[in-house]
Amino acid sequence: MNQPENQTTRRDFIKTTGAVIGGALTTNLIFPQRTFAENSETIKIGLVGCGGRGSGAAKNALTVDKNAVLVAMGDVFPDQVSKSRNNLKAQKDVGAQVQVDEENTFTGFDAYKKVIDAGVDVVILATPPGFRPLHMKYAVKQGKHVFCEKPICTDAAGYRSFMESVAEAKQKKLGIASGFCWRSNHAERAIYNKILTGEIGEIRSLYGTYNTGDPRIVKVNPNWGPMEAQLRNWMHFVWLSGDHLVEQAIHNVDLTAWAMGDKMPTKCIAHGGRQIRPENMVGHIFDHFSIVYEWDAGVRGFLFCRQQAGCASENVQRVYGSKGTANVMLFQPAPCHIADLKGKPTWKYDGDKNTPNMYEVEHAEFLDSIRKGNPRMDGEWLANSSMMGVMGRMAAYTGQEVTWEDAINSKESLVPDEADLTWDKAPAVPPLAMPGKTPFI
Ligand SMILES: NC(=O)c1ccc[n+]([C@@H]2O[C@H](COP(=O)([O-])OP(=O)(O)OC[C@H]3O[C@@H](n4cnc5c(N)ncnc54)[C@H](O)[C@@H]3O)[C@@H](O)[C@H]2O)c1
Repeated sequence: MNQPENQTTRRDFIKTTGAVIGGALTTNLIFPQRTFAENSETIKIGLVGCGGRGSGAAKNALTVDKNAVLVAMGDVFPDQVSKSRNNLKAQKDVGAQVQVDEENTFTGFDAYKKVIDAGVDVVILATPPGFRPLHMKYAVKQGKHVFCEKPICTDAAGYRSFMESVAEAKQKKLGIASGFCWRSNHAERAIYNKILTGEIGEIRSLYGTYNTGDPRIVKVNPNWGPMEAQLRNWMHFVWLSGDHLVEQAIHNVDLTAWAMGDKMPTKCIAHGGRQIRPENMVGHIFDHFSIVYEWDAGVRGFLFCRQQAGCASENVQRVYGSKGTANVMLFQPAPCHIADLKGKPTWKYDGDKNTPNMYEVEHAEFLDSIRKGNPRMDGEWLANSSMMGVMGRMAAYTGQEVTWEDAINSKESLVPDEADLTWDKAPAVPPLAMPGKTPFI
């Protein structure tokens, strides 16, 4: 197949100067056109990590941008790629934009490289977060814009690597969009705009909860090797997920950081443990945490999260100021609202809290920013919020006060080197962390 003329004139802001792969020709040899009419502004997307969120993110991007096309997909497991590809292709509204042939579905630990090198403009990174720094590094090296699910690391080594990639992305004028979806929700944006412009006065303290039930557990198949057993249940292994504070309640960590203008706390203390899960249960993560983050001026952020069935659930964020309280209601039915110091309501969000869909907004804005030649750059705050969660976990596991400087300079490095990612071995599962005994590394 000949290279279409318009490929030679695709605008620089989509294929950045940082791109080193001559993807246009390769791509069109591999993907014959079907019903989707590619043109000079078409954005080609690759997906790495074809699970729930990755597949959802791909659909969100294709839904909001009819000139976006999914051209490559990769996952460690073949069943995950084919399930996701079939589901996406079957979607009435976006199926025609899924132009992923067998040759462009990739599996194994190096699937990410093959997706990134398949002539894509944008890559969605949605594997377990332990792999994010490695995948990000290669995506940026190859000149790709990245939509990056939260969190971006599970340890300080990953944070430092990711920050290096952010610096390189900035230098190459690449975009990095964050999957901290609440920052794209119009109701949350409205109340945060009020918080950040002083409507509740000076912030005195913050409170956040992510109290929910047991996490997903995939029944262990005795035929799985050691690595597959960990990957299929990745949320339960700290090198992969960071523990549920870093993987799930990280949304509240980020909401705390957002209210503080993305200034990182100077230190924190934390409690946590594994109270209700039987010892023979898969993995070694805690089932509850409580963290106190502290900033220079003595402002404290209190954060509680648990994954314990049969308990009261709550997922909110409250910001207490010198003039009132902002109640950030997230998925709760009540709207975001503000009350004065006597509890008298002074403002509430009147729009529909679910419209527009925040998961679509993040892609619409990102792709638009790329086309306009000013790609969105969320890299630093995305990394810092993730690391703030890791810092809380360090404090809870060790029982020690942990400063931001201690945390980001920690020698802890949980994720195996790429050369050691094989199916027949997996990182040893450490004993459950014991505050006061587990050392800070
Ligand atoms: N923003 C949000 O609201 C939100 C919601 C859910 C999940 N997430 C985040 O999205 C990410 C994925 O979560 P999920 O719920 O989709 O999990 P999932 O288990 O459904 O999907 C993860 C996929 O990654 C694959 N994978 C694992 N290791 C890989 C590797 N090295 N290379 C390629 N593929 C690999 C798995 O096989 C699986 O298909 C996590 O970081 C999670 O925290 C964000």
